[in-house]
Amino acid sequence: MKVDVILGLQWGDEGKGKIVDVFTPRYDIIARFQGGPNAGHTIIFGGQKFVLHTIPSGIFHRKTLNVIGNGVIIDPFILFREIDKLRQAGMEPSENLLVSKRAHLILPTHRLLDAALESEKGVSKIGSTLKGIGPTYTDKYGRNGLRVGNISDPGFLARYEQLKAEHLGIIRHTGFDFSRHLLDTLSLDAYEEQWFKSIDRLKELKIIDSEIFLNTSLDQGKSVLAEGAQGTMLDVDFGSYPFVTSSNTITAGVCSGLGISPHRVGKVFGVFKAYCTRVGSGPFPTELDDASGELMRTRGNEFGSTTGRPRRCGWLDLPALKYSIMLNGVDSLIMMKADVLNPFAEISVCTGYQSGETILENFPFDLTDNDLQPVYREMKGWDSELGNCTRVSDIPDSLAGYIRFIEDETNLPVDIVSIGPDRLQTLQR
Ligand code: GDP
Ligand code: IMO
Ligand code: MG
Repeated sequence: MKVDVILGLQWGDEGKGKIVDVFTPRYDIIARFQGGPNAGHTIIFGGQKFVLHTIPSGIFHRKTLNVIGNGVIIDPFILFREIDKLRQAGMEPSENLLVSKRAHLILPTHRLLDAALESEKGVSKIGSTLKGIGPTYTDKYGRNGLRVGNISDPGFLARYEQLKAEHLGIIRHTGFDFSRHLLDTLSLDAYEEQWFKSIDRLKELKIIDSEIFLNTSLDQGKSVLAEGAQGTMLDVDFGSYPFVTSSNTITAGVCSGLGISPHRVGKVFGVFKAYCTRVGSGPFPTELDDASGELMRTRGNEFGSTTGRPRRCGWLDLPALKYSIMLNGVDSLIMMKADVLNPFAEISVCTGYQSGETILENFPFDLTDNDLQPVYREMKGWDSELGNCTRVSDIPDSLAGYIRFIEDETNLPVDIVSIGPDRLQTLQR
């Protein structure tokens, strides 16, 4: 068996969580391979809404196992807040949740450090979710990190204290006044106390060698779906650096983030919105600062699932989409939030970037280049509701034309069209 992949092709928040939940009945195991609680994956069914940050989006199907892979970074306090919310809704996530021993831990001071480094950057800040992502991956690659498999080591506390002292040293050096900085409404001391309680609770979960578990499961004929977080344009190598996250969000990240050989990667599903959004700083060539952008934001409820920040909105960016498809080896496209564009009589789609007199052939290194201008193609909107559609074949002609245009440009099929946030508002071919 192979590992199929669902990941985002834009700047995150494409609707990956919804689609993973819809696909879960087809798979035995769902596995997150990178990122951490910077992610916010929304799942809506039966009138209930859940936002997951660390737990894979297959958790609502009891028969499916959910793995937090080695490439993920975990804040135990946030993980148990999620687990407790699911328990309040009558679920018992510990039954079908497995956690890799090799996943790194986000310490309270990683979060403080994130805040200190962002504040030092001033106007050029990344717009981080301040969950400690950059500092934790920095310690991982700097070979200083603490991992889930270390929590019962006799030397765990000493290593924690040493790392904390190093972090506080850097924070003092930046001049950041952390005595007044709150971590999710808690002071550092109060957060630390909760964090250690959560570390104890981690021992109740199934902590495993996830790479061995996943490879053995594949050998036994089990099906696995890898769930991406963030999006390709936030990838640390290929995104709009430095305005990116600190992990490889692309298909290649599945191999290192789960311990899967490239030979075992199966079908890659690329999720994209019918338009674009971005939360946080950084270049966004098709951004709309006008009434159209505002309409997308209100209709699409474009406010961050993790931070509540308004998301920046703009037209679909085909050069960026094609670049993402190339990097990920996408086999099948999934278009989300088509319903958000319902009221538009006309829609635009960026078909290229112009620099001076020339239309660029390749995706540019520097999207902030002042000369860079998106080239648009105007298209007729569908200007109608989609509520009565039950299959892709039911959609209005103008939407079908928009999709056909994207298919022709990308040479890929759009196999699913999502027309609302609920699990059931998903049109298949
Ligand atoms: P993720 O991070 O990729 O899982 O996406 P988020 O959950 O952060 O953001 C997607 C948002 O769009 C959530 O609020 C979803 O409930 C919502 N959503 C997903 N699909 C659709 C859709 O087809 N139409 C509309 N209107 N909302 C959707
Ligand atoms: P999901 O999985 C959208 C953005 C932040 C910031 C940059 C770096 O829900 O799609 P970080 O906290 O990683 O240091 O932030 O990346 N970002 C996301 N944007 N969706 C996400 O995740 C994101 N995770 C991080 O806004 O610009
Ligand atoms: Mg999200």
